[in-house]
Parts: sequence; structure tokens; C-alpha cells
Amino acid sequence: MNILILGSGGREHTFAWKIAQSSKCDNLFVAPGNSGTAQVATNVNIGVTDFPSIKKLVLDKRIDMVVVGPEDPLVQGVHDFFLNDESIKHVSVIGPQQKAAELEGSKEFAKEFLFRHNIPTAAYQSFTKDSVEQGYAFLETLKAPYVLKADGLAAGKGVVILNDLNEAKAELKSMLVDAKFGQASTKVVIEEFLDGIELSCFVLTDGKNYKILPTAKDYKRIGEGDTGLNTGGMGAVSPVPFATEDFLTKIEDRIVRPTIEGFKMDNLPYVGFVFIGLIKVGDDPKVIEYNVRMGDPETEVVFPRVKNDLVEVLEAMANGTLDEINIEIDERAATTIMLVSGGYPEAYEKGKEITGVDAIEGSIPFHAGAILKEGKTVTSGGRVMAITSYGNTYQEAIKKSYQNIEKLHFDKMNYRKDIGFDL
Ligand code: AMP
Ligand code: GLY
Repeated sequence: MNILILGSGGREHTFAWKIAQSSKCDNLFVAPGNSGTAQVATNVNIGVTDFPSIKKLVLDKRIDMVVVGPEDPLVQGVHDFFLNDESIKHVSVIGPQQKAAELEGSKEFAKEFLFRHNIPTAAYQSFTKDSVEQGYAFLETLKAPYVLKADGLAAGKGVVILNDLNEAKAELKSMLVDAKFGQASTKVVIEEFLDGIELSCFVLTDGKNYKILPTAKDYKRIGEGDTGLNTGGMGAVSPVPFATEDFLTKIEDRIVRPTIEGFKMDNLPYVGFVFIGLIKVGDDPKVIEYNVRMGDPETEVVFPRVKNDLVEVLEAMANGTLDEINIEIDERAATTIMLVSGGYPEAYEKGKEITGVDAIEGSIPFHAGAILKEGKTVTSGGRVMAITSYGNTYQEAIKKSYQNIEKLHFDKMNYRKDIGFDL
């Protein structure tokens, strides 16, 4: 098979690394890719939402399957684009159709879905510019902290949590009236605050059947001890030590199964990955959000633990035969530490040479914001490289990653030194 992966992060390098190991894959392409994907696939310089160029590439290279990494192309309807075009409708697309991608594209859509299917989640109400006064009144009925979410995609920045009622009201006004997040905040969801520890659950579905992948926990804040600004993710651990057998059963019974049943009942066409952001409140799981893709950097710890041939699994998803697949999991723990550019998640410099990657032993460097330039690997983004290791315990795996990071260098390199601190 010829396979095309869309994306350019650590998640897509991990997809490429895993797919390249399959004897079923003949030619592997990544658009646009990075310096890591270049080691195992052919990079093609096309953006993930440039559908006409993607179509041309698919026809030129006789691509049989497209694996979509990030949410943007899904929310913009890349799967529907393929289905609606005679010349490419035979190509398998791994990722939900636009109608289903709204689960990530609109917080309100996701909340309505959760309530309709009795899936545990925070209480909420949504507001627009015309109902901003009702929004203030709703905030007054809640206890601090106040959770405000821009309805649409806001590059991971659309959730604001505030302790002060007046600040929360000002933020609501800024989102709705002053369009703080542009189109994304024409609607705002205000939610009850849930207090607990977060984890991520990943589900594969062919639209009828589902398989649950190992759980993972990511570390979103830039600073040690979970302080400072939110990032795309600074590290991850799989499995999650506090996700006991009993807790996992609750997740499957109360959340995963009703979610997949919900897709069927609501006619949401879904072939792809479901990323369920969960929070453990007391002993019970509740849904924080749905994403219609794999997490990053969670992928960098989840896929290394999947022993199956990934292409066989993806084919089963596309063909509706996921029930015939038995997912085999490596018992070892996997952890990853994200190296980031100094300044990230605010302004940072690019083009810094990365050295020491060849000296890494016993860990896997998944490239993220890194590209090849004149024979050198240089930084091209905020999150630069995820160093993944296995271990008999997560502590052992983390230690190995940190040992290898000692060998790596780029100007203003930064990373969190406390991944796993709260487990
Ligand atoms: P999101 O962008 O939806 O992933 O939300 C960002 C982060 O905000 C989540 O990872 C949580 O840490 C936090 N968050 C979102 N909703 C809630 C909630 N209802 N209660 C507490 N924390 C929340
Ligand atoms: N690591 C969180 C995400 O991918 O959204």
C-alpha cells in the first residue's frame, strides 16, 4: 500500500515510524513532515488544508490511504472532500467526516452530544453576544474557579480558567463582544469547574466497533509543578498509574461505549481516533473534551506500546472489521519529555541547530518542530523534539529520557525536569 500522513509534528513522526515498520506499506509520504519523518518517509511540501494539492499528490503517487494527524483538515472536511470526488473516493481516509469532527470543532456541539447520551461531564450553558447579560448572571450562580471556553478552534488557547468573578465577567465580554478569539468565540461555553486529576483515553473506531488504546497523561503547563502558561504538551506517561482496572471499566462502560453508540444514533460518520480528555473526580471519570485525532505528545508514548502492525489496524478501521483485531500492548511503561524552544509558548526563535541526536542510546527521538536545512537539523517550532523511552516502571523510563537529553543541545533549549512528579 501507498500511504500519506498529513501533519508535521511529533505525533506524525510517531505515525510514520510505526507505519514504516509494516511490511504492508510500500511507499510512505508525509505532508509536510519534518526532519524525523524524512528518515522513514518522503516529505512533500504541501499544507494539511491544501486539499487540491493533496488530491494531486494522492493521484500522482497512487496513494491508497490517508492518515490525518491534526484536527484542522478534519474540521474543514478533508474526509468529505475525498468522498465527494469520483477520482479519489476509493482512497481510505483515517479521520472522521466533518459532521463528526464538530465534536472538536465546537465545544457546544460536544456538550450537547454528551448530555444527549448521558455521558458524565461538567454542567454548562452557552452564550452569544446577545446573551452576554445572561452569561454574567450564570457566572454569579457558580462557585470559583470559572471555566470559559471559546466554542470553536482556538489553537489550544480557547479555555480560560479564572478565580475572580469580575475577571470572569470581563473575560466573557472580551470573548463575545470584543471577539478575543475571532470567529472561535462568537459562542462561549461556561462550565462548572471539575476538581481532579486528568488523563487521556484513546479509542479507535470503524464507526461500529471500537478498541481502546493504552491511557496516557500529558503535562500541559510550561512550568514545573504544573505552573505557568498552557502549551501543546511538555511530556507524557503511559500507562497512567492511577487508572486501575476498576476505573478503566468505568471509563469503558460510562464513556467509551455510549460515545460510539452515540455516533451511530446521531449518524456521525466516524472512522478514526477518538481522544477523550478525562478528569477523575473522586473515583469517577468525567469528560472534559473530545478531540477527533490522537494527542501530541500522548501519541509518542501510546503507539510505542502498541505491538500490532499499525497498517493492519488502520485497514480494519477503514474496512469496518475492527472487531477482528486484537490490540496487543507492550507491558512496559513509556514516557516522553518534550524539548522546546526558549520562550515557548510565547515568542521564540527558530533555525537553531540541534546537535547530539545521533548520540542518543536506548531512547527514541521523535522530531516535532525540527526540519532539515542545508544538511543540518534545525528548530522550526516551539515544541522541537520528544524523547521517548521504555522502562519497567515509568520512573525508569523517565530517567532514561533525561539521561539522553544531557547529550542534546540547541540554543535556548528548555524542558520540564519534573514529568511524572504528581503520580
Ligand atoms: P481543553 O483546551 O478543552 O483541553 O482545556 C484545557 C484545560 O482546561 C484542560 O486540560 C483542563 O485542565 C482544563 N479544564 C477544561 N474544562 C475544565 C473543567 N470543567 N473543570 C476543570 N478544568 C477544566
Ligand atoms: N496533548 C494534548 C493534545 O494533543 O491536545
